[in-house]
Amino acid sequence: MPRKTYAAAVVWLAATSLACVQGELNSLQETASPIEEEVAGAGAVDPGPRGGPVGAGGPAPGLTADEVGFFAAARAKFQEVQSVSGSVAGEDSTGLGPTFNANSCAACHAEPALGGTSPHPRLGFVKTRNPLIAFAALDRIAGREQAVPSFILPDGPIREARFVRYPDGTSDGSVHDLYTIAGRVDAPLCSLPQPDFTAELAKRNVIFRIPTPLFGLGLIENVPDQGLIENLKSSASARKHLGVGGRFNRNGNDGTITRFGWKAQNKSLLIFAGEAYNVEQGVTSDLFPNKRVESPGCNLNPTPEDSGNIHNPNDPKSLVGTASEMAADVINFAAFTRLLAWRRPSPSPARPRK
Ligand code: HEC
Repeated sequence: MPRKTYAAAVVWLAATSLACVQGELNSLQETASPIEEEVAGAGAVDPGPRGGPVGAGGPAPGLTADEVGFFAAARAKFQEVQSVSGSVAGEDSTGLGPTFNANSCAACHAEPALGGTSPHPRLGFVKTRNPLIAFAALDRIAGREQAVPSFILPDGPIREARFVRYPDGTSDGSVHDLYTIAGRVDAPLCSLPQPDFTAELAKRNVIFRIPTPLFGLGLIENVPDQGLIENLKSSASARKHLGVGGRFNRNGNDGTITRFGWKAQNKSLLIFAGEAYNVEQGVTSDLFPNKRVESPGCNLNPTPEDSGNIHNPNDPKSLVGTASEMAADVINFAAFTRLLAWRRPSPSPARPRK
């Protein structure tokens, strides 16, 4: 990475600081909690969605023509729609389920442009109703539609649910997907039920996360640990004033700072892509080769479902294609994220809150 870009990464980090802080900000936006008032009291006010042009979603400045080509092809993979075995028209990517939240990465990372956060029917730029609602009925055999969990609202954010504790009282914290493939036309023999969200909500056992945008994450991945440590130090007094804390999470074996996702638990964009593919869509890959759930009639493909397409000269069906086509989906997702531009500051004042 050129020195100039590294400097931009540090400036950008000064604004967002840490992946976990970003998560906290997102939950502030979602709930208007007492903490938000505290922050407002300290002089910071959430101005609401910005005005002006989107200023996001394109390739990072300075890429070569080949890199821009890979970016465009990888972005198309990010939009590809998964069905169970690729047999549903228009959904020819393979591996959905047995449990899933959505059938493409793009469904959740959409606002204000591909790679962003949750769309919204009124606020923001991408005015669609919550796309998670459609998955209850999409491709289902008549009479086998699933329930839309009560916390997924037409004009509410994309939410994913984690349970605090397992039934035996031990700590859980993992993502519990909203839907299963039971009753889909491509998994008629699967009968895996959805989690009982009503009961878990009544036990106050459900916590939510909303999608964080992926803009500029290639810079976050590349900034040296020392840059992060210095940034944490130099922003200490400003953060103290705003009541924003936090510390680095580190990778168990090599001891380096981890950077992505909830509590910055993931080391790299490639690992995150593999995990998201398995957690959100249920797809297995070379990185996450096992299904999250094994249940009769619900595990319908050899695993891993997503792997590189190595050219075999003795196999007439073996693919010869572009670098993007030859690479596994997870490689494409990571490449799209790495090459995605960081957001441009808004040239116009923020719109007032509605
Ligand atoms: C159902 C919604 C949903 C889908 C589908 C989804 N994501 Fe996400 N994504 C999230 C949420 C929620 C987060 C917030 C982080 C967390 O909870 O760990 C997130 C965070 C991320 C991050 C980390 C961002 C950061 O700043 O640390 C990456 C990278 C990412 N997603 C990539 C992907 C990829 C690649 C796919 C497709 C394989 C995908 N996501 C599909 C909801 C989704």
